[in-house]
Amino acid sequence: MSVSLIILAAGQGTRMNSDLPKVLHPLAGAPLLVHAMLSGAAVSPEKTVVVAGHEADVVEKAAKAHDPEVTIVTQDEQLGTGHAVLQARDALADFDGDAVVLFGDTPFIRPETIGAMVTARSDHAVVVLGFEAEDPKRYGRLVMSGNTLERIVEYKDATEKERAISLCNGGVVTANAQVLFDLLDAVGNDNASGEYYLTDIVGIARERGLSATAVTCPEAETQGINTRQELAKAETTLQSHMRSDALDNGVTMSAPETVFFSHDTVIGRDATIEPNVFFGPGVTIETGAKIRAFSHLEGCHVARGSIVGPYARLRPGTELSEDVRVGNFVEIKNSTIAEGAKVNHLSYIGDAEIGKATNIGAGTITCNYDGVMKHKTTIGERSFIGSNTMLIAPVTVADDTMTASGSVITKDVEAKALAIARAQQVNKPGLAVKMFEKLKNLKAKRDKGTK
Ligand code: UD1
Ligand code: MG
Repeated sequence: MSVSLIILAAGQGTRMNSDLPKVLHPLAGAPLLVHAMLSGAAVSPEKTVVVAGHEADVVEKAAKAHDPEVTIVTQDEQLGTGHAVLQARDALADFDGDAVVLFGDTPFIRPETIGAMVTARSDHAVVVLGFEAEDPKRYGRLVMSGNTLERIVEYKDATEKERAISLCNGGVVTANAQVLFDLLDAVGNDNASGEYYLTDIVGIARERGLSATAVTCPEAETQGINTRQELAKAETTLQSHMRSDALDNGVTMSAPETVFFSHDTVIGRDATIEPNVFFGPGVTIETGAKIRAFSHLEGCHVARGSIVGPYARLRPGTELSEDVRVGNFVEIKNSTIAEGAKVNHLSYIGDAEIGKATNIGAGTITCNYDGVMKHKTTIGERSFIGSNTMLIAPVTVADDTMTASGSVITKDVEAKALAIARAQQVNKPGLAVKMFEKLKNLKAKRDKGTK
């Protein structure tokens, strides 16, 4: 059975107190909306429709950055979850499979849970995700009779007896897409909120003799994000899970509580991560590599045996081969560093390719930006770039070369050459003593004048 996703993301999220739409606030390096898309990816959706409303263009951009194939529809007025789902009707007009409705602000639903709901669909027309709430608060309540879900009643509309039900609606719903839209046609807004409730489709389905049931999951999965407090708490929870997974997978961390991961960080067995390391999105660390304290990495790959830091920054597009050394206060961006090369101290390497076993001396800068365009620096194998060399890109320094310390390299250097590009030194005998005397006299005169 093919499945499509409808992700509701039109709400403003007033309680976030933010200009950014709620679903775009990041959790472990990815917007909340992307977490919902990732949960849904488990059912290999044929189509993903995101219902945007508040700041729809920004939501569209973020959704397409994650999945360019996504379809965006807009809900201009937020008239309720049922109304929101109906906005996807045209986008799914030709689709006869199942639709799974997810909320863009609910990032913890496990892919397996959605899988279980899709499986349950073979026996029931409508499947809803339920959970036993410790404190059911204002959630919708699931009215069951045996295994059959009879209807969902929203807290505001519930009787005291119904409010006593602890089985609550987690928000995820699945049904055949066309059946879902037909049921929604019958939903009105005559209720305590004056909204078109998605949840009303269950009662309507039952009236029509269609079967409905609930699949349950732990409460933690259904937790939605409404405030920055909840977002921060969710980040803490997620970080703690990721640290625990990394330890279980054989990563060494002496202070795991100080290491921050992204949702997609991949770290191999027997890698060591020292305290206070931050991983932005898109990082892969291979087996046995070591990331030393206070390093910041994003969008990079570190191969086995490499050592990075302390205090190193690897930016997107950085590719370190095996046994590379990147030391303190080194920044690398969009560059490939070949096996055994070393960039140990105080350097900026950007848009560069550095060959095997080459040593980049302290303070070396690839001057990759001319104020308008970026240019490439290529350095060959077994070369020695002297300390404080400025490499004015575009420039190529071939294999087995040397550059003299302090050189400003503006021209290509051929293989085996030594490039010196700095002013000649001149020594003036005795002149230092004369200079000191002259300066001291000058200072004495000046001090007298100010008295
Ligand atoms: C909803 C459910 C409730 C369930 C709870 C779980 C309904 C009527 N109620 O309530 O049974 O227990 O979720 O968290 O479905 N949205 C739109 N357009 C709208 C309204 C909402 O896109 O017009 C989006 C919101 O941005 C949000 C999601 O739908 O991502 C859920 O809406 P929300 O207002 O949070 O629903 P709840 O009142 O929490
Ligand atoms: Mg909610």
